[in-house]
Amino acid sequence: MTRRALQLLSTQDPIPLPLVETEVAHGGDDIASEGSAPVNLSGVPETMLWTLWNRAAETAREDRLIVDPMATELVGRIDYDFAGHFGKPSVFHPIRARVCDDLIRAYFEQCDKGPTVVALGEGLETQFWRVDDGRVQWVSVDLPEALDVRRRLLADHDRIRLVEASALDPDWMDAVPVGAAPFISASGLLMYFKEADVADLLARIAKRFPGAEIFFDAIPPFFSRKTLRGYKVTEKYTAPQMPWGIQVNRLPLFLDRVPGIGALSVQTYADPFPARTRIYALLSQIPILRNRLAASLVHARVASGGA
Ligand SMILES: C[S@@+](CC[C@H](N)C(=O)[O-])C[C@H]1O[C@@H](n2cnc3c(N)ncnc32)[C@H](O)[C@@H]1O
Repeated sequence: MTRRALQLLSTQDPIPLPLVETEVAHGGDDIASEGSAPVNLSGVPETMLWTLWNRAAETAREDRLIVDPMATELVGRIDYDFAGHFGKPSVFHPIRARVCDDLIRAYFEQCDKGPTVVALGEGLETQFWRVDDGRVQWVSVDLPEALDVRRRLLADHDRIRLVEASALDPDWMDAVPVGAAPFISASGLLMYFKEADVADLLARIAKRFPGAEIFFDAIPPFFSRKTLRGYKVTEKYTAPQMPWGIQVNRLPLFLDRVPGIGALSVQTYADPFPARTRIYALLSQIPILRNRLAASLVHARVASGGA
C-alpha cells in the first residue's frame, strides 16, 4: 500500500454515528501467507480490489458500518496502487456489504436446516469471517483469475468451497448441498451482465432452489450508459462497462416477471444509513431523482414451491 493510500485511509471525515461493532472470527491464520502479494487483474475481476479498498477504509473510520480487519490486512499485503486507481474511499460498497451481512444473519436465525450461502462473484469478500455462525456451508463462485487471487491470499476453510465458474453457467448449482434453500448473493456483479442474462440467471435459481433468498444490487440506467462511454474513476482507472441498468422503481416489476421470485425489499443505497449518505439521502426523497439516479439494493425470495 502506498503512502497516499495510508493518508487517504486516515483522513476521511468521520460523521458521528453509533459505533457498530461485530465480532469477526478472524484469528490471523485466515490470510494465506506473509509478504507482499502481486495481483495482476484487469476487467471486471479487477473491481474486486475496489470493493476491498472501500471495506478497508470503512474499517478505519470511527463511525464504521462494517468491521473488516481482513480487508485492512489484504490491502496492506497486496502490491497495488489502491488510492491511485480508486481515489477517495466511498461508503457505498460498505453499505452494500453491511446490508448483505445483516440479511445473512437474519437468514441464519430462521434457517432450521443447515444454512448455505452462495456468493456469486465473491472476489476478495471476507464476508464469511464477518458473519460465520459456526455451521454455514459457504460456496464462493468466481472466474478462474479471480479465484486464483483468492486462493493465494485467503487460507482454505473446511466450510468454504470455491467454484471456478461463471455465475451464468448453471454448473455452480451442483456445488450447493442437495435440498438446501440457500442465501444467494450477487454483490457488485449483475450490472456487468445483459438484462436478459440477469433474468435467465434469476429464473434458473428460482427453478432449482425453492425457498432460497437472493440479494443483489443494481445501478440506474444513466450510470450504465456512463460506463458504456468509458467512466474514468481516476486518471489511472476506467471502470469496466456495466451493460445492465434499471431504475429502482422498476425493479419490483422486473422481479415479478421472473416466475417464482418475489421482492422482499427494494431500497436505494441511500436508504439504510442516511446519516452516512446525507446528500444522496436528501435527493432520494424526491421521486424523480430517486428513480433516475439511485442505485438499488434488492432482497428477494423464491417461493417455497419454486418456479
Ligand atoms: C465488483 S467485484 C465484487 C466482489 C465482491 N462481491 C464484493 O462485493 O466485494 C465483481 C466480481 O465479480 C466477478 N465476476 C465477473 N464476472 C463474473 C462471472 N461471469 N461470474 C462470476 N463472477 C464474475 C469478478 O471476478 C469480481 O470478483
